[in-house]
Amino acid sequence: MTDFTATRAMFDLPDGVIYLDGNSLGPLPRAVAARVARTITDEWGQMVITGWNRAGWMDLPARVGDRVGRLIGAPAGSVIMGDTLSIKVYQALASALELRPDRRVILSDTGNFPSDLYMADGLCRTLGPEYRLKTTAPELVESAIDDTVAVLMITEVDYRTGRKHDMARLIAKAHAHGALVVWDLAHSAGAFPVDVAGADADFAVGCSYKYLNSGPGGPAFIYVAPRLADKVRPALSGWLGHEAPFAFDLDYRPGAGIERMRVGTPPILQLVALDAALDVWDGVDMNDLRTRSLELQQIFIDRVATGAPDLRLASPVDGQARGSQVSFHHEDGYAIIQALIAEGVIGDFRAPDILRFGFTPLYLTPDDVAKAADLLCDIVQTRRWDRPEFKTRSKVT
Ligand SMILES: Cc1ncc(COP(=O)(O)O)c(C=O)c1O
Repeated sequence: MTDFTATRAMFDLPDGVIYLDGNSLGPLPRAVAARVARTITDEWGQMVITGWNRAGWMDLPARVGDRVGRLIGAPAGSVIMGDTLSIKVYQALASALELRPDRRVILSDTGNFPSDLYMADGLCRTLGPEYRLKTTAPELVESAIDDTVAVLMITEVDYRTGRKHDMARLIAKAHAHGALVVWDLAHSAGAFPVDVAGADADFAVGCSYKYLNSGPGGPAFIYVAPRLADKVRPALSGWLGHEAPFAFDLDYRPGAGIERMRVGTPPILQLVALDAALDVWDGVDMNDLRTRSLELQQIFIDRVATGAPDLRLASPVDGQARGSQVSFHHEDGYAIIQALIAEGVIGDFRAPDILRFGFTPLYLTPDDVAKAADLLCDIVQTRRWDRPEFKTRSKVT
């Protein structure tokens, strides 16, 4: 059994705060600050450029990638870290499209994260007018898969509603029609058990700053199925994805397997932060995590249903159809979230009217969640959100 009291003790949570936003930016694991400080003083400070070899910086993207891989069911040597998720989406899509040269359609759904759709649109414009991005409603995407689709691009968990797609089912249908699938696991990795190899995923990408707690701007990951890794031709053919970067050849030759998905210089301090943050997962069973996450979500949903019926559940009622977040609609959602934050419970808001709450068993207890729900209900009942200072929109919501 996973010891969630022990995992909670591994976080430096701000005093007086119940944090329900780990689905957006994970909090600080205790070990990170000292580890990053050591890398700065002992490695960067003392080794300077020799740190690339002596401190093993150059191998960090693959070594940390393997640790992330264990959380998403990826075999060793199939995941690499670097860049931002938007970049990794582009890379995966471009490579997948090139593997289906006779087809021109990227299929996605309107529950996808806008950046993924923007990247796909930009890629289509670069490739030429015959390429196009087609989107359907999330519940129609499965039936829209046909023999014209080159790549199905799906974010497994909807960032607004928490609705979760059935990965194995969509892959089976896509493969039956000769299409490849790119998964965005931003709201999946570290949120519940994922099995990219078992589900026969082709490509998967995700970020590390949400449930994996790497800190703001932490690097993204990319998985390429081992059966494809030596076939893909990286569109972003940077020098560190070259077979021999320090040969400085004028011609690009892709590196072996997943190494070719590297682009440029890796962000060492952020990778070290992630490496330290991943220690929290060492004793965690992902099935225990899922069970506990669903328990926490249910406590919150039940209390809100009773105490603040004006908040309409935006997430699926069936827990198995959700990721690890719960959302509600309310036309004054922004102000309600600001009032809640002012009283020590942090959630967030997504336009036009969604209040979002993330449930992260590593550091949240049933008691935290009950208290947070009760405070939310009280704020709604008393209309404490109805003040001008809670209605001014900040840059980040
Ligand atoms: C599902 C999803 N995809 C893509 C992104 C974009 O990630 P990045 O800003 O790291 O490029 C996000 C960011 O939150 C996201 O939630």
